[in-house]
Amino acid sequence: MSDQQRPELKRLFMETYGCQMNVYDSERMRDVLTPLGYAITEKPDDADLVILNTCHIREKATEKVYSEIGRLRAHKERRASEGKGMTIAIAGCVAQAEGEEIIARAPAVDLVVGPQAYHKLPELIARAARKTGERLAADFTAQEKFDALPARAPDGVTAFLSIQEGCDKFCTFCVVPYTRGAEYSRPLADVVAEARGLADRGVREITLLGQNVNAYHGESRGGVASFAELLNVLAQIDGVERLRYTTSHPIEMTDELIALHGAEPKLMPYLHLPVQSGSDRILKAMNRKHDGAFYRDIVARLRAARPDIALSTDFIVGFPGEKAREFEETMQLVRDVNFVSAFSFKYSARPGTPAAAMMGQVSEEEKSERLARLQALLAEQQRAFNGSQVERVLPVLVTGDGRKAGQKHGRTPYLQAVHFEDTKAQNGDIVPVRILAASQNSLTGARLEMAPEAA
Ligand code: SAH
Ligand code: SF4
Ligand code: F3S
Repeated sequence: MSDQQRPELKRLFMETYGCQMNVYDSERMRDVLTPLGYAITEKPDDADLVILNTCHIREKATEKVYSEIGRLRAHKERRASEGKGMTIAIAGCVAQAEGEEIIARAPAVDLVVGPQAYHKLPELIARAARKTGERLAADFTAQEKFDALPARAPDGVTAFLSIQEGCDKFCTFCVVPYTRGAEYSRPLADVVAEARGLADRGVREITLLGQNVNAYHGESRGGVASFAELLNVLAQIDGVERLRYTTSHPIEMTDELIALHGAEPKLMPYLHLPVQSGSDRILKAMNRKHDGAFYRDIVARLRAARPDIALSTDFIVGFPGEKAREFEETMQLVRDVNFVSAFSFKYSARPGTPAAAMMGQVSEEEKSERLARLQALLAEQQRAFNGSQVERVLPVLVTGDGRKAGQKHGRTPYLQAVHFEDTKAQNGDIVPVRILAASQNSLTGARLEMAPEAA
């Protein structure tokens, strides 16, 4: 490319909030903007374009966006006084849910774009620069977005791959069905092509993403492929050594999928399976479509198929009407199942969701107290699990250099971060590591010499 053709270098500052779907989407937005000359900058001060990829799941997540816009406004004004521009774009679920309100409340924002319209970013940015005043991107379908996005440019040996968008489950506390729309599964051939592309660029571990990833039912040769069928096809791709998926709904854990956990070695023995509560009455009020016994049964069958499977989950405490004894049922479920990690949250009332209008909202004080007790128990289980790995030799996927010279870091099959002594391993290798010590959040170890290859 001659200098005349090369687009002028522009700086892009991106901040990502919320779930892994947003992490994936941020990467794809970067891929759309790279050909236009945008390169990532780590500081907002000198950015030509700022994108906040936002989350609407809890009130706090949404508030963060407005305080961040406030900070950005100061940079924008300073740059304007120096004769330079700064375009501020709000993407993600707050953009989808509160687009009009953002424009009314935050004049510093030039552009609002919902999660299905990222392929339109170049056009929207150009329009914003011409100051046409058109700031709200129209909605498109998920399919259109995926078809129009450019090829991936992964920057490591692990990658996310979105296979499914939206949600039709309508749990009564949750905004996702409103912000991400109806459930949509990408066609099987498209997912396979993207996975192959990732493997060709050195990716060894792929995490399939969707708000209901195991509800996947993608078009395939005129028929419909189930999630287990998709995993079977992906496991055959050379170079893809490890498969994971998140986040799953308990009612979509089919017999076929549970059996695959025992049969497919590339499927990692770690599963994030949100339960939300241990009380049947609360689960019903949440419209979760499963009760505690159903969840325990899935766990038992997963463990029968793959005895070492590590389970993680999500909880909400203080859902409207939750009594002290109902919270104790959640504590009991944690003791019964034994989780290796978990996310737990105080219930946050979201405007427009059925639970926000329910009677018996729990006090902030009560919620905090329950959350602290739950988190203490979960932390204890996490420390116990990590501690149980000491002295074991685990196959570790090398993901980068460690903090100190002579160290690498990587991931165990159970998704634990490991720092270990090694000078030879390359990123993407899977090497045996003896675990020497454990903390709540990570492991340390030393690489073992490889056994000589069989003749
Ligand atoms: N699709 C996933 C997760 C969706 S959002 C599932 O079905 O479980 C991630 C987590 O945020 C949820 O599992 C839930 O624990 C939490 N969450 C969602 N809405 C919330 C709310 N209104 N208040 C507090 N936590 C919430
Ligand atoms: Fe939200 Fe429930 Fe859908 Fe998960 S399954 S995204 S919690 S509505
Ligand atoms: Fe948040 Fe939207 Fe994900 S609300 S959790 S960013 S789907």
